[in-house]
Formats: sequence, C-alpha cells, structure tokens
Amino acid sequence: MKCKYCNGKAVIYVRRTRTPLCPSHLEEYLIKNVVKVFKHYRIDLSNKKILIALSGGKDSSTMASLMKKLSEVEDFEVVGLYIDLGIPKYSDYSLKAVEKLSRSLDLEVRTINLREALGFNISDTGFKRRTICSACGIIKRYLMNYAALVDGCQIIATGHTLDDITAYILKSYITQDLKSLVKLGVYNPPLNKLIPGKVKPLGYVSEKESLVYVLSSNYPFYHEECPYVSHETIEFQAKRFLNMVEAKHPGIKLYMLREYEKNRQLYEKLVEYPPLRRCKICGMPSQREVCSFCSIVKRITGSYDSVLKMWENNFLRII
Ligand code: AMP
Ligand code: FES
Ligand code: ZN
Ligand code: ZN
Repeated sequence: MKCKYCNGKAVIYVRRTRTPLCPSHLEEYLIKNVVKVFKHYRIDLSNKKILIALSGGKDSSTMASLMKKLSEVEDFEVVGLYIDLGIPKYSDYSLKAVEKLSRSLDLEVRTINLREALGFNISDTGFKRRTICSACGIIKRYLMNYAALVDGCQIIATGHTLDDITAYILKSYITQDLKSLVKLGVYNPPLNKLIPGKVKPLGYVSEKESLVYVLSSNYPFYHEECPYVSHETIEFQAKRFLNMVEAKHPGIKLYMLREYEKNRQLYEKLVEYPPLRRCKICGMPSQREVCSFCSIVKRITGSYDSVLKMWENNFLRII
C-alpha cells in the first residue's frame, strides 16, 4: 500500500480517516494531533519549560519525540524526567531505553532515584501487588510535581494515549465515580503555583499509532510491562472492550473523548470538592491534614524525615 501523500510505502492504515501513511507522513499526522490538544485547551506554550515524563515505554517515547520536534519550531523548551522506582530488571531496562532515547532525540533527561531520594524501592515496601501499584501511582505523580518545581517547569506532559483516557472514562462510568471522572481530561490546569499543569499530548492518538511510529522511526523503548501490572483490573478490561467496539466502529474512542470533553463542565457542577489545604508535613496541596504521599512514606519508612530531606536537597540527576 502506498502513502496517501507521497510514493513512499505505507506503514499504517488509519481506519478512522481511511488514510495509508508512510513513516514521515505518520509523524506529520501525529504532530497535527498533538497541536490539536494544545489548541483545544488553549494552552499557551510560549516561553514555557515542559517536563516530559518518560517511563521508557513506547507511548512516552512517541510523546517525547513529537514534543521535541514541536519545540524545535515553536517557542518552548522540553526536558525529560525518568523516575527510577527500583523494580528489579524492569527499572534497569527502562532506564537503558530512556538513556538511548535521550541520545537519539538529543533530549536532556533528569532522573530521580527513589532509594536515593527517599530511602526505599517500590519492590521492598512489603505491600501487596495492588497496593504497590496504587502507592506507586501516588509516588510517581508527587515526584513529577517535585521535579517540575525544582527544575522550573510549568507543565508536565505524560504519555497517556486515547486508549488510556477512554478506558479510564469508561471505568468511572461503570463505578459511577464522578470525582475521578471530572479529572480525566487531556489537560488539567496548574493549581496555585505548587501543582503544574498536566497535559496528555497523545490524548487524540491511539496506542497502535504510537507503536507503529516508534517501530517505523526506530526510536528506543522497552516493551515489557511492569511486573506488578494486573490484567484483571476494570481499566484493563475496559480497554479490551473498547478495542472490540473500535474494531467495528472505527473512530468511536475519539468520539467518546470529544463528547466527554463537551460534558466535562456539566460533571464538574455535580461534584463537591472539600476545600484544599496544605499538607502539614510537606506543604503541598492536600484534601487531608497529611497528604497521601507523606502518609505512604511514613507507612514505609516509619517517619516523615525523608520527605523533608528530599525538599531540602535537589535529587535530580542529569543523564
Ligand atoms: P503508566 O502509569 O505506567 O501507564 O504511565 C503513564 C505515563 O506516566 C507514562 O506515559 C509516562 O509519561 C509517565 N510515567 C510512568 N512511569 C514513569 C517513570 N518511571 N518515570 C517518569 N514518568 C513515568
Ligand atoms: Fe509502579 Fe508498576 S510501574 S507498580
Ligand atoms: Zn508519505
Ligand atoms: Zn505531604
């Protein structure tokens, strides 16, 4: 099959637009979709420094490449972040992929090592598998905020795709969890200078498009899953279900996300937020007296000391 725009060999057939694309026109198409996110949410990137959260997996590699290319023609700066959670094999191979990606994109990347910064690894918390995953999510989100604040970044970009976001939306419908539902968009603005804006540049890009892009452009990524991931979760099953629907109705996921975006303000009106206060240990915004990050650190290490030490020092290292 030939690319719709040139004589090159097509590497993907985008079913929802009925378009075969070669690697360079796939890149152009993906960049256009990333720009759509910034336009839709009226995110002003000029003079901003954006933290690119890199897991070493395919989606954050795709996102990093597209954002780096966009930064070369637009007026913003990008810098990568890899959080080393100390998961045997998985974290080491992921770090290697991030190092290679950093070289091939000429992207400056910082790392933060959990053991160095807080004195423990995710694997030696003694938690059960599910608890590890949810604690890990809280720790990663907090360390992204920490890195952005220490490094002067106003926006954090993650590699979540259209498939991830729609699966989370469906999960929130199933469980009728309105509080989670309102937070699921592609962009969440900054919160009182302490929490940077969060954007998902691949919000309108599918996992398949992302995979074909990294493979056809030869960008490094680590393809194994985290050993603690469970395929029994509602979001994993929701993803499988949505893939089945998408196969029969190409474009349904994008339609679902666009309709969600239209209704989001309506959902917001239905949710009552408790007033945000400052965590009495670390000072970050929190709904409780002590934020969930500080509570986890106390549960694992027996004290809050390492949180305070982390804020007093800069644990970001350049690779
Ligand atoms: P996950 O929660 O593993 O599905 O990852 C979602 C997104 O979070 C990825 O696309 C990355 O942008 C970011 N992320 C996940 N793990 C890490 C990590 N170890 N270091 C930095 N960013 C990460
Ligand atoms: Fe955190 Fe798997 S990446 S538990
Ligand atoms: Zn082409
Ligand atoms: Zn705290």
